[in-house]
Amino acid sequence: MQATARAQPNIALIKYWGKRDSARNLPAVGSISITLSDLHTEMCVEVDESMHDDVLIVNGCEDRHMLPRVKQCLDTIMGAPRPAVRVVSHCNFPVAAGLASSAAAFAALVVAADSALGQSRDRAELAGLAGRASGSAARSLYGGFVELANRDDDIVVNRLLESDEWPLRIVVAITTPDPKRLSSTDAMEISRKTSPFYNRWIERQSVDLDEARSAIANRDFAKLGSVAEHNCLKMHSVMWGSRPPVIYWNSATLACMQTVRDLQSEGAAVFFTIDAGPQLKAICLPEEETRVRAALADTTGVSDIMVSGLGSRARLVHRQGDSDGVHVANST
Ligand code: PMV
Repeated sequence: MQATARAQPNIALIKYWGKRDSARNLPAVGSISITLSDLHTEMCVEVDESMHDDVLIVNGCEDRHMLPRVKQCLDTIMGAPRPAVRVVSHCNFPVAAGLASSAAAFAALVVAADSALGQSRDRAELAGLAGRASGSAARSLYGGFVELANRDDDIVVNRLLESDEWPLRIVVAITTPDPKRLSSTDAMEISRKTSPFYNRWIERQSVDLDEARSAIANRDFAKLGSVAEHNCLKMHSVMWGSRPPVIYWNSATLACMQTVRDLQSEGAAVFFTIDAGPQLKAICLPEEETRVRAALADTTGVSDIMVSGLGSRARLVHRQGDSDGVHVANST
């Protein structure tokens, strides 16, 4: 059996940073994200009884670095012992560079693997499986505005708004396409163990979540921007205060931040967020997109710009059994 699924990355407005339970990959804090429409990963999963071991191909090249995490995720979905699987992935944006490529990848992987096995788990269960592999991946199982709740013993995702209920635009300023040197899992652990700000970060998260939830419900852009920037800078302050310090930014990241601040002082409805990487994401109202895009493209050190709206949930696009392929676009 073979199945292909597509998922979009998501960008956290209220960040997940820190694990409560590393073994089960449970986040220490809740988070709120938006799923993007124009960036995506497609994963084809093929169960191949003739192979001895799993293979992962990413954009045409064998990827041994990511393979152990993919294997672990397949073990959870398929159980053991299991046949070998060939996973072929295509991603239309830079991988492992702070653009949530692993969120899109694991969301697509669980949907494709579930289907390739002829199973049909529900969304919540798929989100739980994706979240075990990459905390933020659970959010890409859903479209629009999504909250990953911090529950005692499980990964629970709530939908806040569908993408068409508040169609914001996202302008991503790429400052380098290179992969990051430190994974977010390792960086979170350094933060937890050494940052003097870590405990306070955890304590205050529910306040930011409440404020963001209310801003989203009321479509209050200024309030959402204010709490999202605050939460982002707080997360990076936790990292900067760690030993060794965790610094994902480069000079162009800061220049982009200044560009957004200049636009804000001219009255533009835009705010920024930055994840575990040097790229800046500017979130704006649709009427500001052209201006925001031009200003960021003009900023020193920006190598590329990607623009996106809000997207839909991870979905199956093709399935093939012993007989003919079945196209299942627009379905789960
Ligand atoms: O899911 P991970 O392990 O890639 O961690 C995601 C961490 C951030 O992107 C920085 C924040 C978030 O909530 O997505």
